[in-house]
Amino acid sequence: MKREEPHKILFVCLGNICRSPAAEGVMKQIVARAGVSDCYEIDSAGTYGGHAGEGADARMQRAASKRGYRLTSRSRRIRTDDFDRFDRIIVMDDSNYDAVHRLAPDRDRAQKIYRMVEFCRTGHATHVPDPYYEGAAGFEIVLDLLEDACTGLFEQLESEER
Ligand code: 4NP
Repeated sequence: MKREEPHKILFVCLGNICRSPAAEGVMKQIVARAGVSDCYEIDSAGTYGGHAGEGADARMQRAASKRGYRLTSRSRRIRTDDFDRFDRIIVMDDSNYDAVHRLAPDRDRAQKIYRMVEFCRTGHATHVPDPYYEGAAGFEIVLDLLEDACTGLFEQLESEER
């Protein structure tokens, strides 16, 4: 059965310049390749607004571009109304989880919060590590995790349709 409403997914990290823009780019490419972009609304935000208006970090853009992803998002801070605009708010680490949870208007809407690693198909990662103060390898680790988790998320959402 086809859904009337698109899946609305918001990826969240701290600065919205490294992990969540990459998650947005990876997920958009997965749904585009599957020919179902119309069935998805995908965005990203940060719990910290200090980079608002900025594009993705140049190091993340470079690493993502080598794998064929274009990161086009502009950083913005998560807002309370995102709990109404999105079905799933997917965070990268425990600190993001706590910050987003504090912002949830009520218990029902707090149930929209998920951890990115819940959707990983391989490994036992507990979080998507913050690469901001790391070297180039940190960005590759993030992309490996995001590719696995976004594929798992996509498979889960598409299997709900049947
Ligand atoms: P992100 O990475 O949360 O993956 O976007 C960071 C970006 C900026 C900062 C920390 C992490 N910062 O401290 O400004």
